[in-house]
Amino acid sequence: MKKSSRRKFIVSSATVGIGAMLTGPAFGKLLAAEKSAAASTHIGFDQQPLAYAYDALEPAIDAVTMEIHYNKHAGAYSKNLKEAALAEAVDTKKPLEDVLAKISKYSVKMRNNGGGHYNHELFWKSLTPKTSTQPSDKLLAAINQHFGSIDKFKSQFAEAAKARFGSGWAWLLVNSDKKLIVSSTPNQDNPLMDIAEVKGTPLFGLDVWEHAYYLKYQNRRPDYIDNFWKVLNWDFVSERFINS
Ligand SMILES: [Fe+2]
Repeated sequence: MKKSSRRKFIVSSATVGIGAMLTGPAFGKLLAAEKSAAASTHIGFDQQPLAYAYDALEPAIDAVTMEIHYNKHAGAYSKNLKEAALAEAVDTKKPLEDVLAKISKYSVKMRNNGGGHYNHELFWKSLTPKTSTQPSDKLLAAINQHFGSIDKFKSQFAEAAKARFGSGWAWLLVNSDKKLIVSSTPNQDNPLMDIAEVKGTPLFGLDVWEHAYYLKYQNRRPDYIDNFWKVLNWDFVSERFINS
């Protein structure tokens, strides 16, 4: 059995086991709590465990890239963020979003690593080995309203991701008027930051730093973007949309 399949088996067995112990309202509550935690818009300062194996997103995103990306790059953002928080007397028990909203008042180290940590935590949750997820009816209706169609939205998002010069992110966000917008940010900035040109709550972002794709795709960023759609977790994105 492949490592990813074995993990899926263990997870589903555990869920069945819990289900056998908890029935009726108790099991419903547990599922609701899990669903709510998964869609929570708040992100803390610690790196959270990946919900899937490194090779689970193959072939769209390869295992070696995932392992280095999660452990080395993203791990360092969390470590450096906590160093900056200690130096700048930030309470790490509060949501990181509170810091990002006033990031212009903090150091460059806080901006780069606070953004880096937030962006990656959101990114891991936005990906899934399931290939069949689709936007909810409500999210699809909003996408159709704001972009014309899902294909037009994907095309606009892909253009933003391709056009980001150097390193950065492409975003689907909801602004304060509840409008869906595609944007991109340089480096590890994001739409929650007070310095962002386009502000709002990100529903998901795509990492277009070379460290996210170069081992498999080299200079072919457009191929990486095409394959990203196959592992985007529309269930998670739809939940964030409802909670935004
Ligand atoms: Fe990254």
